[in-house]
Amino acid sequence: MRPKVTTVFACQSCGAISPKWLGRCPDCGEWNSYVEEARSDRSAPAALVSAAPLSQVAAASESRITTTLPGLDRVLGGGLVPGSLVLLGGEPGIGKSTLLLQAAQAVASHAGEVLYATGEESAAQVKMRADRLSIRQNRLLVLAETEVSRVVLEAESRRPALLVVDSIQAVFDAALSSPAGTVSQVRESAAALQRYAKARGVPVVLIGHVTKDGSLAGPKSLEHLVDAVISIEGERSSSRRLLRASKNRYGPVDELALYEMTGEGLCEVPNASAALLAERRKGAPGSAVTAAREGTRSLLLEIQALVGPSAAGSPRRVAVGIDSSRLALLLAVLEGAGLSLSSREVFVSCAGGLEAHEPATDLAVVAALASSVRGVALAEDAVFFGEIGLLGEVRVVPAALARIKEASSMGFRSVFLPVGNAAEAAGFPDLAIVPTDRVGGFLETCLKSRV
Ligand code: TYD
Ligand code: MG
Repeated sequence: MRPKVTTVFACQSCGAISPKWLGRCPDCGEWNSYVEEARSDRSAPAALVSAAPLSQVAAASESRITTTLPGLDRVLGGGLVPGSLVLLGGEPGIGKSTLLLQAAQAVASHAGEVLYATGEESAAQVKMRADRLSIRQNRLLVLAETEVSRVVLEAESRRPALLVVDSIQAVFDAALSSPAGTVSQVRESAAALQRYAKARGVPVVLIGHVTKDGSLAGPKSLEHLVDAVISIEGERSSSRRLLRASKNRYGPVDELALYEMTGEGLCEVPNASAALLAERRKGAPGSAVTAAREGTRSLLLEIQALVGPSAAGSPRRVAVGIDSSRLALLLAVLEGAGLSLSSREVFVSCAGGLEAHEPATDLAVVAALASSVRGVALAEDAVFFGEIGLLGEVRVVPAALARIKEASSMGFRSVFLPVGNAAEAAGFPDLAIVPTDRVGGFLETCLKSRV
């Protein structure tokens, strides 16, 4: 008997379901995003299941499978967790297939067979990429298949150590009549793969295409279903790629790894601070270096500010890679400290395409702003970190010692930090430590320190 088929309308942007067509999605506000989709009712479970006391439930083993790519492992929280479902999202052409082929080859070499299901490209195309990456690995199995039940069937018979599905938008569930890539297809296919992952204790990684605004049917609606969402970002024009987790049931979400797309695949950049500061123009007004924390690592970032001439009407305030409400707050504090920018255009950015959302970068932001307004460059070997309060006070930040260490190891000679963190700099006799407690006094000192 054929399963009963009902028709629903699904928002292709967020996955909301409605029995009738809607012009505007009440959940995400998108216009004209509803598409009619047929879905079959799945039959109720045949046998009754029973609940078990928590004390009798066997805990999942925490033995993770390493991908041998240190950056990817770190972002995953220490490697792949057996039975977990991971989504790797990114724009087309950014390097998702490359990264996973590299990881697949490594897992195949030490943990067992890896099944790489490709719906996006033919097996021959995958082979071409593998050749380019010098991958010769008999335990890496390629399956060119788009029907999800056949992918699961092959995995059931092969029992691989890892299953990769490239991509979730290319596979479909034959029980649904809507085309591959629609929200219901993406969701049902992912659900089938999740059932497989949980039942067999095999990690499954799904590749998902995401456009610049994060839309395109699929990945967004999958976020609640998967255990971890990893994204790979970067500018097309640059070979630099950033890997980070935006959700992780098995690890922290603030870890970050920096990669470089080379002729032989993605290579991790071992010294991220050096790479991020490499393009800095020393001696230019408006540039300040801060020591940020990304997960368990410290990272030196360049904050740039440009204060334009007075503008008529309401002047622009543009923040790229830093929080715009944080910038508004800092401008108000500067006003209180005697540096009025209320009629000037203000642009602040975190250089290198990174984001600095920690309050600890406040001190570098105000230093860069003051430096730009006065046209005076800051000392080029100085690092700034500290949170600024509404009253203009400089507040302590976590992990000051680690930040100071990073600054010292990168050859910086002076560190401006909150008074409350100054004791942590005791072990660095070679560094000039400048404790600060108020924004007003700080501005004078940092602009003077140049000479
Ligand atoms: P790809 O992994 O196919 O991207 P995605 O799966 O995210 O769509 O990588 C696409 C780009 O990477 C392509 O423009 C070629 C480039 N590339 C390299 O520069 N070096 C390499 O070793 C490989 C395999 C690809
Ligand atoms: Mg691809």
